[in-house]
Amino acid sequence: MKTIVITGATRGLGLAITKQAIKEGYKVIAVGRALSEELAEAVRQNPQTLYFEAYDLSQIEGIHDFAIRIAKTYGRLWGLVNNAAIGTDGVLATLHEHDIGQLLRVNVEAPILLTKYLLRPMLMNRAGRIINISSIIATTGFSGLSVYGATKAALAGFTRSLAREVGKAGITVNTVAPGYMETDMTKALQGEKLESIKRRSPLGHLARAEDVAHAVTFLLSEKAARVTGSTITVDAGSTA
Ligand SMILES: NC(=O)c1ccc[n+]([C@@H]2O[C@H](COP(=O)([O-])OP(=O)(O)OC[C@H]3O[C@@H](n4cnc5c(N)ncnc54)[C@H](OP(=O)(O)O)[C@@H]3O)[C@@H](O)[C@H]2O)c1
Repeated sequence: MKTIVITGATRGLGLAITKQAIKEGYKVIAVGRALSEELAEAVRQNPQTLYFEAYDLSQIEGIHDFAIRIAKTYGRLWGLVNNAAIGTDGVLATLHEHDIGQLLRVNVEAPILLTKYLLRPMLMNRAGRIINISSIIATTGFSGLSVYGATKAALAGFTRSLAREVGKAGITVNTVAPGYMETDMTKALQGEKLESIKRRSPLGHLARAEDVAHAVTFLLSEKAARVTGSTITVDAGSTA
């Protein structure tokens, strides 16, 4: 059985990826700050294949030890899905420096460090999968999301160069760029703003977390062995 780590697995997209990965036969280490009721229920239903590990990814200095503990406890690792992120919004002129720092730490520095340390067992196995969750905002832009957009563009850049670096070791690195999904991260966006986002989709609706999760489980699979350095966009066509 292949073991994968999914960050931000307590809610939203991370939880949807976790549920699909379990169905497809992976052993999943679900990471988040606090166990949600929904993830707890999934752990109860899958006691042999789903494990929760609490970690606050803004605690950058502890990531090395956390990664070592994961590798020691769960053994060989097949994949890592860097999904956890915060979506703090606000116009740059008034955004607090603390919030800017936190966005950069949780959305960029943490996934880079976690990848650095969890890559080691993959390099030894000469096989593995790394999937970074970016956003269409990385390439389209959205007023009030300049720092968030910068973090998501950073992950896409990280993907491409790392794919070149570790390809010879049989490890693929890819990005999934979701469009707008209705999760806790976006619950403030309602009314006409939400309707206008829906209208931008040629399909007339939004991508769901489950739709995006399918792209992630494809990239985790053997079928995606020759896909690396790429971005799969799942946005119901809104950027077409
Ligand atoms: N929703 C959208 O429309 C949308 C669009 C494009 C891209 N995305 C991307 O999709 C991914 C998932 O977003 P989502 O909508 O599912 O967000 P969400 O519902 O807000 O969930 C975020 C997840 O990240 C975890 N997390 C946040 N801060 C953390 C920290 N400091 N340490 C550890 N875990 C932390 C949360 O767990 P805890 O609270 O338990 O720590 C939660 O599981 C993100 O990378 C986001 O940028 C979302």
